[in-house]
This record gives sequence, structure tokens and C-alpha cells, in this order.
Amino acid sequence: MKTLTLCPPAAGAHDSLPAPAHKMPGHWLLARLGKRVLRPGGLELTRVMLEQLDIQPRDAVVEFAPGLGVTARLTLSRQPASYTALERDEVAAKEVQSYLTGPHQRCQLGSAEQTGLPEQSATVVYGEAMLTMQGPEQKRRIVAEAFRLLQPGGRYGIHELSLTPDDLPEAVQEDISREMSRNIHVGARPLSAREWRELLTDAGFRVESEATAPMHLLEPRRVVQDEGLFRALRFVFNVLRTPEARKRVFSMRRMFRQHRRHLAAISFIAVKP
Ligand SMILES: C[S@@+](CC[C@H](N)C(=O)[O-])C[C@H]1O[C@@H](n2cnc3c(N)ncnc32)[C@H](O)[C@@H]1O
Repeated sequence: MKTLTLCPPAAGAHDSLPAPAHKMPGHWLLARLGKRVLRPGGLELTRVMLEQLDIQPRDAVVEFAPGLGVTARLTLSRQPASYTALERDEVAAKEVQSYLTGPHQRCQLGSAEQTGLPEQSATVVYGEAMLTMQGPEQKRRIVAEAFRLLQPGGRYGIHELSLTPDDLPEAVQEDISREMSRNIHVGARPLSAREWRELLTDAGFRVESEATAPMHLLEPRRVVQDEGLFRALRFVFNVLRTPEARKRVFSMRRMFRQHRRHLAAISFIAVKP
């Protein structure tokens, strides 16, 4: 396997942010500033998810929305029989494809809603920080696609943003989703743990395990844990020296902090019976 050097999409662009930094989806803004880990529970929850997925050399793995490919790298170190990723962002898809090798590793440009991959061709499917940004119908379609792709006994892992507690009044849920969508410039519709569970079971899955972590995406300690000290310092430097980006990153962090009582990262492992 090739050694990876991951760069944000449009590598180097973080040196001079393009004009629409104020409009860019939050995750790509963070990526341009040098952040690679873009999921709510950080690498810690990713590792829990991968541990529970228990990927083995016999597994055919499909990843939905690999982003910059940080989890792809962890998966490939487990040497699965095959690895196929579906990413709808062209630059990110090329980036991930650039470090895949051989006929059994590929990253396709496309949507997780309709992968075009054969039915029951996978034993493991997973996706992180990608369902939260979909509307209710798209969420259902993506989970149904994971179900279609998996063989019986296959495992599906998700790592997403959740609203807590389960009985949070609907008006509060809607307020948080609306404010978050406005702030990060991507539709964000996190679900409660119960709703995530229902989404999976309604598609036919049996939920086998779940784990949670605090939503600390932009908290200094988590940034260092996820990126390492050097990258974390570079990220902070890039944020501080670009006024427009600074404004947005601080605004995102303020919003996450303001709603911290009601936000968490959650991961589920579900099995196709
Ligand atoms: C917040 S980023 C998360 C990236 C990566 N999974 C991570 O956790 O670092 C969301 C990613 O989902 C991708 N995405 C969103 N909807 C998608 C879909 N329907 N099919 C494939 N990729 C999708 C975006 O292009 C982006 O790369």
C-alpha cells in the first residue's frame, strides 16, 4: 500500500482563501484551513466504530463519503479484500483515489443514494458525518442503499451528530437544525439517538451496538487529538491569519458551544439479518 499524504481539496488553497469563504460549506472551509478530521466524534469515535465493525482481510468494504480519506487509511491498514468509496465531491474523490492502489481499491465519484454497485456485494458498509446533512428522504435512501449492498450478516457503521435527550421538544430540535444549517451553510438535520435507531431498524437492520462521544469538533483538545500537534498549530495559524475564515470558524464553535447540552456524536453498528 502506498504511503498517504493527505491534503485538503484544492491543496494549498488554505494559503489564500478564495473569495466565497463566507459561503463555503463548513466542512470544506475547515478542510481548506488544514483540518482533515471532519466528523463530530473525532478519531476516537471512528476508532470505536472500526473496532466494532471488525474489518478483516476477507471483507469487501464500501465507504460512503470518505471526504479526505482519513478513515479510509485506517480501514486499508486492516487490508480488506476490497475497498470501494463513493464520494460526491469531485476534488475529494480524486484525492482519495490518488492513494488507492490495485484493482480492488477505488473511489468513485457519485452518490451514496444510488451507488450503482451490485446488490449484496459488500460485507461492511460505513459512512461518517454524511447522513446528518441529508433530508429525511435522502437519509432513508442512503440507509436503504447500504442495506441493498450488504450480504446477510453484513455490518453497517454510522458516525453522526445526534440531538439529546430523546424527548427534546420538536421546536428546540428545529431551532438547532435551522441555526446550524445557517451557520455551516449545509442543511443539517441531526436526529436523536432514538430516531437514528429507528432509521436503521425501519430499513431492516438490527442494531447491534452504539457509542457516543461529546461533540467537540472545534474544541482545542479534540483538534490536537485528531490532527496532531503540528497540524493543529497550522490549522490555528491559518484560522487566525484569515479574518473571514476566523469569523466563520469562531461562529461555528460558538454555536456548537451554545447548544452543547443538546449535541453529541453517536455511532451505531447495525447488522443485516
Ligand atoms: C462533513 S464531510 C465528512 C467527510 C468524512 N466522512 C469525515 O468524516 O471526515 C461530508 C462528506 O460527505 C460527502 N457527501 C455528502 N453527501 C453525499 C452523498 N449523498 N454521497 C456521497 N458523498 C456525500 C461530502 O462531499 C463530504 O465529503
